[in-house]
This record gives sequence, structure tokens and C-alpha cells, in this order.
Amino acid sequence: MLQKIDTIKEIRKTIYEWKKLGYTIGFVPTMGYLHDGHKSLIDRAVLENDKVVVSIFLNPTQFSQNEDLDSYPKDIINDTKICEQAGADLIFLPTTNEIYPAGFSTYVTMDKGASEGLCGSSRLGHFNGVCTVVAKLFAVVKPNNAYFGQKDAQQLAVIKQMVRDLNIDINIVGCKIVREADGLAMSSRNSYLNADERVAALSLSKALTHSKNLVDAGLTDVEKIKFEVEKIISQEPLAKIDYVEIVDTIYLKPIKEISSVSMCVIAVFIGKTRLIDNIIFKSVEDSNGNNFT
Ligand code: PAF
Repeated sequence: MLQKIDTIKEIRKTIYEWKKLGYTIGFVPTMGYLHDGHKSLIDRAVLENDKVVVSIFLNPTQFSQNEDLDSYPKDIINDTKICEQAGADLIFLPTTNEIYPAGFSTYVTMDKGASEGLCGSSRLGHFNGVCTVVAKLFAVVKPNNAYFGQKDAQQLAVIKQMVRDLNIDINIVGCKIVREADGLAMSSRNSYLNADERVAALSLSKALTHSKNLVDAGLTDVEKIKFEVEKIISQEPLAKIDYVEIVDTIYLKPIKEISSVSMCVIAVFIGKTRLIDNIIFKSVEDSNGNNFT
């Protein structure tokens, strides 16, 4: 039976009991408004662990003032249904005050490495907020395995760097992007798109698929590939490019030539909605076909 807990004190008791019984714990941190992308993370966590915790917490420290914290979509009834269907054991649903009580003053910051560039440049302070909340949630849930989507490729790289840097003994699992039938990468923010913007948003996956076709056909010149991606997106009047980069899949640093581990990462405003997406050209894969990034 799916349990719902909103205090750190209470979830600690449950986690303590589970650990005493020798259960392994899988953890899926989310900000709610769950979709099939989140469900795929929970499904995988259920397969690989004895117990699965999903956190739903809209983390204010990862939003800057001009971003969408206040309008971020919520649907706790549907979120609960998705967690139940996927077979999660516990939803952790803390209040902002539970996570950031009065006087809170310790933050995890990452100024270099995986957090540099891309969304780290466009969304200043964003990854410090992500690292802080994820480190806190890790300290509460104490999972064996934690699951993150590959769509947020830089976030995944940042979390991997954080657990390396801070010697946090948790296995970070990156899971494949889940797309709508027409190619749009699933995202809670897709709900902001009106009908015209929803069509315009297809320019992201269209451009990325084209870039992969070019690489598969033998093109290795990064500038030419970027030009082709930008050309497709720029043809869409509702789209405004934030960045298009070709990077290595481990540190997400720009590369000059397509190498053994490379991907194209993009961020594009469709109207007022900022969407991110990526495609891996070449990578090292594990036995389940999941990419190591
Ligand atoms: O990817 C998200 O939904 C958030 O950034 C996360 C990891 C739950 C931290 O708030």
C-alpha cells in the first residue's frame, strides 16, 4: 500500500525500519506533475529495489525570480495515481518549511565542472538549488539507488559530480528520455504550451533527429552540425534558441569533433516556455542499453 508522509521525522522512522529488515531503497526525486517520463523512472526503481520512495517537492531554491515557481503545474491526485500504478511504496511530500525551516543557511554549491555552461549559464544559481535539495533528500531517504532522467542531461551530470565530490554512497542511475508519439520529450512544462506552441515545440526533436542522422551518415564537423540544428529551429517563428551545443556525454563540455562519447544538447524558448532536449550521438552503454553520461 502506498504511504504518504510529509515530515522528515516520520519518513526517517520508516526508512530505519526498512533498513533494519535489509531492504534496498530506490529513490525518485521529483517536483510533481508526474508524466510517463517520471513513471519510467519509478518503474525502473521498482524493478531494481525492494522499496521505492518518490519525493514531490517544488524546490524554490532552484528557481530564479523571473522563473515559473508560482505557476508550476500541480496535480497531486494524478501524481498519487501514477505512483500507485507504478508500484511505489512511499510518497514523501514535505512542505517548504520542512525542507527550509527558519534559519536554514547551509547550501551545496558547484561553481565549476558539470554545472558550468549550458543551463548553468542561462539559469544562474539553478544547480546550487538542485544540489542543495537533492543532498538534503539523499540525507533523509538514504537510498541505495537514485533515478534521474536523461532529458535533464546536465542535471544528471551535476548530481553524479556531487556524489563523487562529496563521497555520497548512492548509485546514480540515468534513464532514457521518454517522448510523446510525435517526438516531443515529455516534460511537466509542456502543459504551458498552447496548440500552436505545441506544434512549434516539435522543432526541437526534429532538429535533434536530423543531427543524429548527419552524424550517422559520417559528418564529424561540430560547427556544421550545430548550424543544421539551428537552421531547423530558426525556421519556426515561435522558437527562440537559448543554446545549441555539442558536448561530451560525461562532463558536458563543448567538443570540436564528434568523438566516442558525444551528444547534442539544446534549450529553446517556445513562446515563454523554455524547453530542453538532447540526443546522444555516441556513448558507452550498460547491459540494459542505458547510456552512461
Ligand atoms: O528534476 C527535477 O524535477 C528537480 O530538479 C529535482 C531533481 C527533483 C530537484 O528538485
